[in-house]
Amino acid sequence: MKNYILIKNKINNFNKKIQVSADKSISIRSVLLASQAVGTSKISNLLESEDVLNSLKVIKKLGINYSKVGKVYYIKGYGLNGFNIKNETVLNAGNSGTLARLILGLLVKSKSKVKLIGDKSLSKRDFHRVIKPLRLFGVNIESKNNLLPLKIQGTDFLRPIIYNEEIGSAQVKSCVIFSALNTPGITQINSKTSRNHTELFLKFLNYPIKVIKKSGYEKILVEGLKQFKGFKYEVPGDISSASFFIVLTLLSKNSKIVIKKVNVNKSRVGIISILNMMGAEIKLKKKTIYNGEEIADIHVKSKKSLNAINCPSKLNSSAIDEFLIIFLVAAKANGISRFKDLGEMNKKESKRLDLAIQFLKLIGIKVNRFKNDINIHGNPNLTLSKKFEMKNFLKDHRIFFLCCITALTLGGMWKINDKDSINTSFPDFLKTLRMIGAKIS
Ligand code: S3P
Repeated sequence: MKNYILIKNKINNFNKKIQVSADKSISIRSVLLASQAVGTSKISNLLESEDVLNSLKVIKKLGINYSKVGKVYYIKGYGLNGFNIKNETVLNAGNSGTLARLILGLLVKSKSKVKLIGDKSLSKRDFHRVIKPLRLFGVNIESKNNLLPLKIQGTDFLRPIIYNEEIGSAQVKSCVIFSALNTPGITQINSKTSRNHTELFLKFLNYPIKVIKKSGYEKILVEGLKQFKGFKYEVPGDISSASFFIVLTLLSKNSKIVIKKVNVNKSRVGIISILNMMGAEIKLKKKTIYNGEEIADIHVKSKKSLNAINCPSKLNSSAIDEFLIIFLVAAKANGISRFKDLGEMNKKESKRLDLAIQFLKLIGIKVNRFKNDINIHGNPNLTLSKKFEMKNFLKDHRIFFLCCITALTLGGMWKINDKDSINTSFPDFLKTLRMIGAKIS
């Protein structure tokens, strides 16, 4: 079967209500936490993408059974460290950095050595960021150059740590929190702000975790060895998936969209703040709190003219997965947009900062780069008519989505390879685009 798509036409104006796929970060956390609960958890609207299906496969290999009845996943846990780990277990995290980094935190007591592997993209990503705190807990890790494959063997003599998380990585923070669950005493994390789904989930489970806001960072205190019961959870929509439809609407003519029931946690909505600073009028309506997470409908309409932005780097972590698509808006804005300190983009599924610059140049946009800062020279009159082919982007789902939205808003004749990359986070992406009126072959 062909693994590319062709887009030859911009999208016609639309006025639609849609729902995007369920949140990937929360889906993975819900599966992993259910594997540590006492009793059965019921999870609905779980994202059925490869990253999450790999999370289910991983807990199954660790002795946790699950089933699906109707649309609900039932996961039966045996409490903290309730895994039944066989000798020479190999866990495959596929493409998922979140799964790979978080599962390590749940293996800190494993008597057997467990091997963790991943796909080509994940095997290029840095694991030193989690190996460092895991070793401080007393865990044994073998890895060449801090990359996958790695081997982890836990210990019965875990010691609580005080850890300064300075990257601003929720994956690292969550790995430390998960390790702390199995560690006696109180673990302290002084963490640069990053998405806080793990903390909110544990609070919802009444787990003894405390978060104290300090200036520029958070002090997180986790008491170890407290059990929690199986839970019921409905996963909300993913703002990262919604972001592509937000920009599609913003850059199309005379169009409107409502994206229903999206997670709008403050640590995730950097894209909305940034685009509104650029002149978009994105509104959040029907706000509710569900199990600690904020949910809302996102209302967007087209905008004829958008302004450049001098993007405050304090918004970086809350928009880290969205910069690719934000850059497309900067490409169409009036003036020069400036973004700073985006080195973490190069630590994702692909080297996204490098690829974004190549991409912007490919569509005729001037970009200056100074280390990890970039200036994008916007061109409000930008339209495309040439032929473009996108390949060799390490099957990065978000690069694929970016290309589709570019083709549908700016024009040109596009061949976009690695269609299967959408399965990482948003298997219904193309279906949803077609539903809005996109012509894709
Ligand atoms: C994620 C955290 C972010 C993000 C990734 C998902 C998570 O990575 O880019 O897509 O679910 O914790 P970092 O924590 O490495 O910044």
